[in-house]
Amino acid sequence: MRYGYFDDERREYVITRPDTPLPWTNYLGSQDYFGLISNTAGGYSFYRDARLRRLTRYRYNNVPFDTGGRYLYLRDEASGVFWSPSWQPTRSDLDSYECRHGMGYTIIGSASRGIRAETLYFVPLDRNLEVWRLVLTNDRDTAAELSVFSALEFCLWDAWDDVTNFQRNFSTGQVEVEEGVIYHKTEYRERRDHFAYFACSLQPAGYDTAREVFLGPYGGWDAPLVVRRGVAANSIAHGWAPMGSHHVKLTLQPGQTETVVFVLGYMENPADEKFDPPGSQRINKQRVAPLLEEFLDPRAVQAAWDKLRAHWDNLLGKLQVETPDVHVDRMANIWNAYQCMITFNMSRSASFYESGVGRGMGFRDSNQDLLGFVHMIPERARERILDLAATQLPSGGAYHQYQPLTKRGNDLVGTNFNDDPLWLVLGVAAYIKETGDTSILQEPVPYDNKPGSESPLYEHLQRSMDYTLNRMGPHRLPLIGRADWNDCLNLNCFSTTPGESFQTTTNKEGVTAESVFIAGLFVLAATEMVQLAQLTGDGAGAARYRAAAEEMTAVVCDAGWDGSWFRRAYDDFGRPVGSQENDEGQIYIEPQGMCVMAGIGVEDGRARQALDSVRERLATAHGIVLQQPAYSKYHLHLGEISTYPPGYKENGGVFCHTNPWIMIAEARLGNGDAAYDYYGRINPSVREAISEVHRCEPYVYAQMIAGKDAPTHGEAKNSWLTGTAAWNYVAITQWILGIRPEHAGLRIAPVLPSGWSGFSARRVFRGVRYRVQVERGGPGTRIALEVDGQPLAGDIVPWQKSSEEVQVRAIVS
Ligand code: BGC
Ligand code: NOJ
Repeated sequence: MRYGYFDDERREYVITRPDTPLPWTNYLGSQDYFGLISNTAGGYSFYRDARLRRLTRYRYNNVPFDTGGRYLYLRDEASGVFWSPSWQPTRSDLDSYECRHGMGYTIIGSASRGIRAETLYFVPLDRNLEVWRLVLTNDRDTAAELSVFSALEFCLWDAWDDVTNFQRNFSTGQVEVEEGVIYHKTEYRERRDHFAYFACSLQPAGYDTAREVFLGPYGGWDAPLVVRRGVAANSIAHGWAPMGSHHVKLTLQPGQTETVVFVLGYMENPADEKFDPPGSQRINKQRVAPLLEEFLDPRAVQAAWDKLRAHWDNLLGKLQVETPDVHVDRMANIWNAYQCMITFNMSRSASFYESGVGRGMGFRDSNQDLLGFVHMIPERARERILDLAATQLPSGGAYHQYQPLTKRGNDLVGTNFNDDPLWLVLGVAAYIKETGDTSILQEPVPYDNKPGSESPLYEHLQRSMDYTLNRMGPHRLPLIGRADWNDCLNLNCFSTTPGESFQTTTNKEGVTAESVFIAGLFVLAATEMVQLAQLTGDGAGAARYRAAAEEMTAVVCDAGWDGSWFRRAYDDFGRPVGSQENDEGQIYIEPQGMCVMAGIGVEDGRARQALDSVRERLATAHGIVLQQPAYSKYHLHLGEISTYPPGYKENGGVFCHTNPWIMIAEARLGNGDAAYDYYGRINPSVREAISEVHRCEPYVYAQMIAGKDAPTHGEAKNSWLTGTAAWNYVAITQWILGIRPEHAGLRIAPVLPSGWSGFSARRVFRGVRYRVQVERGGPGTRIALEVDGQPLAGDIVPWQKSSEEVQVRAIVS
């Protein structure tokens, strides 16, 4: 069952009924000012940091779902009937409803009682504000007297404090209203130099800023008193809950259309220019005036929206493919690339499932996200790498997270996730392969942000590698520390206290538990380091990393091999995890994917055997589950993984992030059909047809789909902010379609599904446009290239600065 459809031409997903199984959300903003928006206008906005600079209030896990947003009410003055054109919060019946989620914008349109309303929500490029453009049309054959009420609730900036510290907060809220513009200025009088403003293009008949006055005693957003009465109260908030509402009155003749623009923005003033006149307590609004002048004009709004769309044309234009499968095309060309950009901006901070107050930027998450967006925004990827590396510790270890506002490592979560540093190597390698910019390796970068501690980035990578080599366990496998990629496999935790964080509790010395996954990741990183060392003329380094990779490979093939698959780990007692010897959790997906991606066992058949075991034991129609059999009870020595009921999250859920590793592994072994088959199983566009089962948005990946042990097998959760986005993008574009940046140039090595006769692609790579035509000439994976009509040996098209456009024909046989 579907709740909408894809409009690929306009790069939109069109939702055709408001009561989707879960709020189906989108994001606004590209640089500093961001917002989340659902298909019924729920969501909130923030400046840079969803925790520390939250502009508007949203109620997570509220009843009803998805409360707090960018709300509008329309009121028919003749009858007093009112409704919300985005359905929420009144949830009145609408004659028609449509929500179009696009690239950085959302349009919600509906009709009721002969009045058509269409609201476009977006954040103009390079501006710290959002626009709501409401277009109203009277389809009646008589004139319509209408009132429009806008409504949003201000958050008192720190989102965590906002939901906990009521003894203070109920007294601090402050606003100013001037010429119909509502200014939210809580704490501006003391240490904040920022405020929010909310304006409207038509002179409002009134306004409200005190929530309780607007809603009425014990009132809800579904039927505010002011809207019921049809008259704003011109309330001024003193403490309690500041909000913003404009009351606009309109008369629309039959057939007439009118546009009303609302602008919500964030502004900072220099500390010595906060007040006007100086010495007063009135906000200095000088910097706001020109923005209002510009964006309250519908022509400027249109121009800014056109610019936003051109921006996305340019980003997505870096790679466009035409294949026989519409699901591949729309994910690779539109939604998967878009989701990668969203993970760049949000990391794991703010979504319907991530409350914006919990996590900063994850070290391993950000490095993996980079794999999916580096080709679209290489300069910002460079900046991201340098920010991440600057939080690295002198030991080579990494803070697990850092706060985006301060860019400092987060002491609360700390370090000792022993996989973290290795992801930096993969991130840097991907950046250099994409851009050819080896200068980044010489860039001086501090440790733990301490001035004076700088060393070239290359040395950071060396320390990352040494971090693993200096922490080896009894089997000569890497020690796992608090956890590796699987945050829930906590082998040194042994927690018996409710509520303790599994990730930060360490009750064991950590000198025994080892990770086969980190071993695989190390080999993959070492392969990259060999190439980076060669590029920088570090011959000795190249030899060292080659030897280290060989040694680690040998250990994995010995202590890491269980007979038919790679083991997962060794626990604190030195017993294997992910082995036939275990009753539960005998086989895990992660080491199968990572070890084969690293090339381990490819020559000797172990890789094939491991992937066959995955197919046999882990694959389901809804994707590949993380491990089997799922843990049926709590295992003290394994940690959080066994806290989840069987089939959910890390305990045997389809943890989608790991599925593309298996796709890549299958592609590495030349098995296009298997790779493509797995790709389709979790592809949200394919799963659109079973939206009543999948329940999450059909246009973006979710972190998890409930596994076969769960009563809700096939149900997705935690959409948007997941490493699944980047890895699926890599799997489909670089491995199945095979268009893969290498240091020497662009590799064209498709591993095609047998049913495909070929495909074409356009790729911008280091400023050169490549037009790639792939044709199937036979059943295998042998590649014959023709570049600008000339045969070329090998499968790498060398990059040449002088070319503008290169035609590539690839015959796969
Ligand atoms: C989740 C993991 C996540 C971790 C982050 C756990 O509860 O299951 O997926 O990585 O929290 O702290
Ligand atoms: C989500 C976390 O963000 C990521 O870092 C981790 O690898 C996975 N969960 C698996 O636990």
